[in-house]
Amino acid sequence: MTVHFIGAGPGAADLITLRGRDLIAACPVCLYAGSLVPEALLSHCPPGARIVNTAPLSLDEIIAEIVSADEADLDVARLHSGDLSVWSAMGEQLRRLRELGIAYDVTPGVPAFSAAAAALGQELTLPGVAQSVILTRTSGRATAMPEGETLAAFAATGATLALHLSIHMLDRVVAELIPHYGSDCPVAIVWRASWPDQRIERATLATLDSAIGEELERTALIFVGRTIGAERFDESRLYAGDYDRRYRPVGTNPRFPEGA
Ligand SMILES: C[S@@+](CC[C@H](N)C(=O)[O-])C[C@H]1O[C@@H](n2cnc3c(N)ncnc32)[C@H](O)[C@@H]1O
Repeated sequence: MTVHFIGAGPGAADLITLRGRDLIAACPVCLYAGSLVPEALLSHCPPGARIVNTAPLSLDEIIAEIVSADEADLDVARLHSGDLSVWSAMGEQLRRLRELGIAYDVTPGVPAFSAAAAALGQELTLPGVAQSVILTRTSGRATAMPEGETLAAFAATGATLALHLSIHMLDRVVAELIPHYGSDCPVAIVWRASWPDQRIERATLATLDSAIGEELERTALIFVGRTIGAERFDESRLYAGDYDRRYRPVGTNPRFPEGA
């Protein structure tokens, strides 16, 4: 018996890996994490599967579901939105499973920040502008930010910020970021990336109407940085005509001669 943790992707039912889909189809038990996991994915479950929405359950109750599947020797598909490596609460479940000696594996998924960047048609790392992306959040009721992980500290790097779980705090986000990025710094917000009701707003830190954070649904990604909507950036050296590289030797004395 194995518990298969599967990244269910950002929303669109076809943004799941083939491996994830096939594992759902092979598991007689499916535990899925509430409203952010598209219900359409549950149609891959085999007939008669036990399908449980874990949103109203405590960790103890979720583990009890897994233990009873283990006792019946039934594999479990455990679905969380996006990818499992960020804000999935997978870590605490894996720790319990290790204590219980229950086998598990992990299949990655498309994270929300990738889906939101795709919706914008945006590369988040542009040569000469920013070469790092910071995936972060602000403090929530359930989770405080560790000391040192402040917006100001991240903003001081000038990297592209991908802010999760923060749409209801736009006022604070803007106030903390303006001193670092400047009030003309572009912002793009993507609500429910890849869902049918996806919505996009573009502004600057100065023009952003922070009231929209209260008006709309909370499943939103906020991008801040000079990469957002930029047209002025360098071309990458990798594809420059004069850049000598292993796959495209250039000149009379290439660094990697063909066939070498
Ligand atoms: C609990 S976290 C889950 C993150 C997820 N594990 C991932 O890989 O993206 C939920 C937050 O992710 C962001 N999010 C999740 N799905 C999204 C989507 N389809 N569009 C925009 N933001 C999304 C929002 O900031 C939301 O508050």
